[in-house]
Amino acid sequence: MTESTNQTQPPTTTKPLTIGVFDSGFGGLTVLRALLPLIPNAHYIYLGDTARLPYGSKSRETIARYAVSSAKFLHEQGADLLVIACNTATALALEDIQQALPIPVIGVVQPGAHAALAASTQPTPDAPHHVLVLATAATVQSHAYTHALNALGLEACEKACPLLVPLVEEGWTNHPVTDDVLKIYLTEALASAPATQTLLLGCTHYPLIEPAIHRTLASINHPLTIIDSAAATARATAALVTEHFPNPATIDHPTTTFYATDSIEKFQRLGSNFLGQPVTEVNLVDLGG
Ligand code: DGL
Repeated sequence: MTESTNQTQPPTTTKPLTIGVFDSGFGGLTVLRALLPLIPNAHYIYLGDTARLPYGSKSRETIARYAVSSAKFLHEQGADLLVIACNTATALALEDIQQALPIPVIGVVQPGAHAALAASTQPTPDAPHHVLVLATAATVQSHAYTHALNALGLEACEKACPLLVPLVEEGWTNHPVTDDVLKIYLTEALASAPATQTLLLGCTHYPLIEPAIHRTLASINHPLTIIDSAAATARATAALVTEHFPNPATIDHPTTTFYATDSIEKFQRLGSNFLGQPVTEVNLVDLGG
């Protein structure tokens, strides 16, 4: 199944569009950040499933259960279209979510793979372009990125980086420990994939450490083009909106409503870093275990 669905017909009457954005935590706010200026005529509802984060170290069954309940919550709150901003949830549970909801659903893996293709030198069967994907352990185990990149004629190597999410959550985005950890991961990955030309950030948290990644790559003499799927996902979402909601009502005062399943205070504090603007009002919601 592709990352977008045609489960709805374009509505005959216009109503304001509400876009749901879901992530296991704060990281998906980088996708919301890209969506807001690109699709300004919409209300947004964002859910960070912070009580059950991280998804990236859990089994497929657990990730699917958490992701489907989160997606259903956003649908119940009035989402007309759902963006799965979480790489792990997209990689492991996209089809489960699409089957559970009667609205268009889009994930981040396909847009990320297309962004890597757009950044690549023209691949040919004799000289394929090589992409290194950094992601959570669950995303890497699913090989969703490898399948998406191979389908576009790109070679893929995936590297699980389980320590990076906690470091970013700790706010250590510009910290020597993070640089040291990155150096180990990148050196290991590039030793097994020396032909790598492009680095795809396959996790919501990694855009926050993009400067540290550039710095580390420079220190090991292996500069690479870095791709972040947030902008590509926003563009793909805009195309999906045009397809399914060609004529939404004009909204004079668009709203963004935040929900989190754990600490409001932490969501406000960390979320602001990801969104690039203050996250003020956050609603606490209990989605169970
Ligand atoms: N949102 C997850 C992702 O993009 C990272 C955090 C987690 O493991 O839940 O893969």
